Amino acid sequence: MSFSCIKLSKICFLLSVIFCAVLLLLIPKFQAIWKPRSYPQPQPPLPFNGSSNSDITLQSGLKANRKMNESPINRLDNLMKDHEEPALASAKEKLQLKDIFIAVKTTRKYHRTRLNLLFQTWISQAKGQTFIFTDWDDQELRLRAGDHVINTNCSAVHTRQALCCKMSVEYDKFLESGRKWFCHVDDDNYVNLHNLLHLLSAFSHSQDIYVGRPSLDHPIEAADHVRNDGSTTAKFWFATGGAGFCISRGLALKMSPWASLGSFISTAERIRLPDDCTIGYIIEGLLEVKLLRSPLFHSHLENLQQLRGEAVLKQVTLSYGGPENRRNVVSVGEVFSIQQDPTRFKSVHCLLYPDTGWCPSLTVN
Ligand SMILES: *[C@@H]1O[C@H](CO)[C@@H](O)[C@H](O)[C@H]1NC(C)=O
Ligand SMILES: *[C@@H]1O[C@H](CO)[C@@H](O)[C@H](O)[C@H]1NC(C)=O
Repeated sequence: MSFSCIKLSKICFLLSVIFCAVLLLLIPKFQAIWKPRSYPQPQPPLPFNGSSNSDITLQSGLKANRKMNESPINRLDNLMKDHEEPALASAKEKLQLKDIFIAVKTTRKYHRTRLNLLFQTWISQAKGQTFIFTDWDDQELRLRAGDHVINTNCSAVHTRQALCCKMSVEYDKFLESGRKWFCHVDDDNYVNLHNLLHLLSAFSHSQDIYVGRPSLDHPIEAADHVRNDGSTTAKFWFATGGAGFCISRGLALKMSPWASLGSFISTAERIRLPDDCTIGYIIEGLLEVKLLRSPLFHSHLENLQQLRGEAVLKQVTLSYGGPENRRNVVSVGEVFSIQQDPTRFKSVHCLLYPDTGWCPSLTVN
């Protein structure tokens, strides 16, 4: 009995040694199988090596503003985006009207007059991308445009503060919309949607683009805090709000520290200038991005009579003189008489969209 017992334990011992040996031999194999899943990955091969390399990417990329205190993660994300750019660009992503956010600034007293004309004309072709920013809850307007009417709750007076208050809401709503371009116009602007789309198609929305008509022939100077170079004023150009202007999403995002969630109002207060100047101050003065001047945007402050014939249809925005200057309108062919169409917007609209129900059938001789 004792013999067999000893023999058995010897066999057991041998067996367990063999088992262990086999296990030991197999471990490397298991490791090989498990490695990809159960072991933490080594540092992934970063496409950008250290700071030197990523700076090169930054420079060759879209001039990301280095003054913005981006966290390393944000920075990497941005770099990744820049990295993907060439592929996207080569796929020739086509800009569509729905990518544009058009903000129309108005006020209670113009709901029936100026706004009605816009709804009748260009807004009818861009209902999905046009948002009305006003200062009054108007049931009739709400029925017409639904949630595309935004009561900013800003004061209806035409003061710097009230205007900046509206611009601030426009900016926030644009960011929220996720669209590619922010375009601001006034309620006395005609927007030629086809030309607007054509203009913006020349750029990428992730570039830093600020395009419009400078309202002065010299840069404006604003008292500012002491700047890096020791000066206490900022000199910058700005696009006149009355002619309309557009900002790319990439640039709008960079403006956020001075523009989002009410900070636009405090920025404007700091330099004591109106809404459109404040936009210029943030973009040119603080972010050091240059205004792209376009002669295709027009405000009521210009001599609009100089715009005539075919040229009228080639502009991005048009306007008309107010009550104090009724004759300051563009010159287009006789679709409607000046009595029937004092602003000329209806005539322009019928030339662009002759199939519109209320347009006279334009017979070609
Ligand atoms: C990263 O860059 C440094 C210096 O620029 C270089 O010495 C190092 O070999 C690079 N590493 C990789 C993984 O390319
Ligand atoms: C304006 O006030 C109304 C009612 O208090 C509110 O529902 C709305 O969101 C406000 N508008 C904005 C843009 O804050």
